[in-house]
Amino acid sequence: MKGSILVIDDEQPMLEACNETLAHYGYDVSICAAAAEGLDRARDRAFDVILLDLKMPGMDGLTALNHLQQIDPEARKVMITAHPTISTAVDAVRAGAFDYLPKPFSPDQLLITVERAMAQKRLEEENQRLRQALGSDIEVDGIVTQSTSMLAVINLIKRLADSEPSVVIEGETGTGKELVARALHQTSMRAEGPFLPIDCGALPDQLLESELFGYERGAFTGAQTRRVGLFEAAHGGTVFLDEISNLGIDLQAKLLRALQERSVRRLGSQQAIDVDFRVICAVNENLEEAMKEGRFRQDLFFRLNVVTISLPPLRERDADVPLLADLFLARLNEAGPRVVKGFADSARQALGAYPWPGNVRELSNAVESAFSLCRGEVIEIDDLPPRLRDPNGASKIDPAASLEQARDQFERDYVKRLLERYAGNVTRAATAADIHRSTFQRILQKHAILAEEFRQVSQ
Ligand SMILES: Nc1ncnc2c1ncn2[C@@H]1O[C@H](COP(=O)(O)OP(=O)(O)OP(=O)(O)O)[C@@H](O)[C@H]1O
Ligand SMILES: [Mg+2]
Repeated sequence: MKGSILVIDDEQPMLEACNETLAHYGYDVSICAAAAEGLDRARDRAFDVILLDLKMPGMDGLTALNHLQQIDPEARKVMITAHPTISTAVDAVRAGAFDYLPKPFSPDQLLITVERAMAQKRLEEENQRLRQALGSDIEVDGIVTQSTSMLAVINLIKRLADSEPSVVIEGETGTGKELVARALHQTSMRAEGPFLPIDCGALPDQLLESELFGYERGAFTGAQTRRVGLFEAAHGGTVFLDEISNLGIDLQAKLLRALQERSVRRLGSQQAIDVDFRVICAVNENLEEAMKEGRFRQDLFFRLNVVTISLPPLRERDADVPLLADLFLARLNEAGPRVVKGFADSARQALGAYPWPGNVRELSNAVESAFSLCRGEVIEIDDLPPRLRDPNGASKIDPAASLEQARDQFERDYVKRLLERYAGNVTRAATAADIHRSTFQRILQKHAILAEEFRQVSQ
């Protein structure tokens, strides 16, 4: 059965016509000729979709709709109306109707409306299922996974909750290092305290030092007021030092001292201020490597690296790609107003085949870009960023094609590649190809390629 439908209408021919069409397409149909009877039926069992006449003797449709909202809030209600006026339609939607169907309508119109209502209900159920699943075992503060290696990470996070050791999180870009750091903080006894991230690679050392330690007024030129440093501000909480391998050697020594003495001195002050914060670090590269090369202090390394958490790249967690793609799509759907039902099989395959060098962040961006390009009910392979459609890059030349066709194919692939590389910037792509911009435009037109489609892609 495709789903259950209740039709409430006082006109017998109408009921029969609906019954015939919908039953023919495999729906489980119940019909009622009066509103009161319809409400009784809805009390007996749940329906996926309820079609309800707006004008009936005894009880008008809007009143019946209000009752139905109480009785079966999950069912999608569609109002049938002979004289659709904007105001009745608006009233009905305000009262919770999903849609309305003006009489007379064709079997096709009926089917399309019912299918849309069904799809919306299924999507809502799916989202709820996902939320419940996320709420249980597979989620610790936003980490969604089905892969054994990440489930082991979640277990580790739970086990570390009481002891709060210093942790180094390693993993490629976009694997979820910050997410894991937050989860470590959230599950710890410091959860009520602040979680303060700082990117050690983003600032030159001097600035970073004043950010971390703070300064007194007049400590250096430009220090016009006193400033509390991050370590002080993180009292009772967690400091997340992102890209710690970028920390200069002088600053490493100062950090080590602060950790050992559990106190800091603001720049320009001799006074030691007691601090109590936990340190969690993230690294993009292997810290041991940096240590061997003398770029990272050994004593600080051991101090920070009490526990190492290694996040596997997304390409090594196959099961997570469809799960996360569904999650990101469900989030976009929830934000509304547009709803995309899912991924076409070919799109799913492309997601699964791609190696995801930018890991989860890249996947999230790819789903978002496909969502905004998608014009149908599901995301098709053509909605996905171009690099996902042909991950090996090899243009498939068909030996049975004529030279003309093969050249065409090459030309098409070549300009697409250029657009990918230059993010849809036609001028730069044309310069790289060493042809005139207008020539490039002509080639795009010939192959019906839209440069705009390449602008949404971000790594
Ligand atoms: N397992 C996951 N479940 C849900 N969302 C995830 C998961 N892993 C990563 N994300 C999301 O992917 C994005 C990237 O994650 P995050 O910022 O933690 O990565 P990162 O390793 O710190 O990246 P970078 O090295 O580039 O700083 C974030 O939006 C994050 O919420
Ligand atoms: Mg990060």
